[in-house]
Amino acid sequence: MSVKIFDTPEVQDFLKTVSGFDQSGGNERAKQIMHRLLSDLYRLVDDYDVTPEEFWSSVSVLNALGEGTQFGLLAPGLGFDHYLDMRMDAEDKQRGLSGGTPRTIEGPLYVAGAPEAEGFARMDDGTDSGAEVMWLTGQVRDVDGQPVTGAKVEIWHADSKGGYSFFDPSQSEYNLRRTIITDSQGRYTARSIIPSGYGVPEGCATDQVLKLLGRHGQRPAHIHYFISAPGHKHLTTQINLAGDPYTFDDFAFATREELVIEGRRIEDPAEADKRGLEGPFTEVVFDVELARTDAPELQHRHKRPRALESEEAESQQASQAKV
Ligand code: DHB
Ligand code: FE
Repeated sequence: MSVKIFDTPEVQDFLKTVSGFDQSGGNERAKQIMHRLLSDLYRLVDDYDVTPEEFWSSVSVLNALGEGTQFGLLAPGLGFDHYLDMRMDAEDKQRGLSGGTPRTIEGPLYVAGAPEAEGFARMDDGTDSGAEVMWLTGQVRDVDGQPVTGAKVEIWHADSKGGYSFFDPSQSEYNLRRTIITDSQGRYTARSIIPSGYGVPEGCATDQVLKLLGRHGQRPAHIHYFISAPGHKHLTTQINLAGDPYTFDDFAFATREELVIEGRRIEDPAEADKRGLEGPFTEVVFDVELARTDAPELQHRHKRPRALESEEAESQQASQAKV
């Protein structure tokens, strides 16, 4: 049976009451946004004749997502992170701030406070014995091609099983997470291991939602970056390693053509020796171009709850994602 009651004065008045419009306390923006959100959802219930069983099943899924601190995992899969990127790209264009290496999503697995080094860091703890050694290097430049010395390059990535340290308690502290300050030529270099692709845990609430949509929860092998320097726009980005089956089928929609990098396998012992390595390795080169800005608020990463970033409850929550 189908009834349509959304447009009745009774329902419209009810939505205003529920959203606290007749109350003097609370937050005005929260009221407006809740009113819009509830209106859209009530309309959806009417339009699709959502049954009580369907509604309460959805509540159960939301509870499961919350219990696993998984909204941060599902959000990229539902395109929110990429949609926010599209909006920031459009804002940059409007401000005349386009140019430079493109941004792409931060993802939910950054952890603040990684060890800092000048010019070079080893990122892996040496325990991922089957993994291919990665020599990751590049130059940070401004839009005129001049090197940016002293830029802060934060890098984080998964291990050869697709797990991230901190969220994967079997890894050592800050494994595969480092901050490197660029040298006098604007260069940064890291010795690490080639990461594997990442998949949302099989059977978790995020996986259940994606399966309902006929979708997978896989990401290609990727490496995250935050890059910042005074006078330049903060950049949040990632590179995807070419050749991964999911490079152009990323459930988190983070792939951008310009950010797909082909690693180069080097087997020449002389080249390995030059870098202090023992055997063959894969070199990955990622040069970065930073756009210029005088606006201080654009020179730092935007605020959001991040693991170990602060004492606040939101930061503690961000630490608990079950991945
Ligand atoms: C997710 C995981 C990632 O490693 C990432 O970079 C982006 C999203 C996720 O689980 O949603
Ligand atoms: Fe990631």
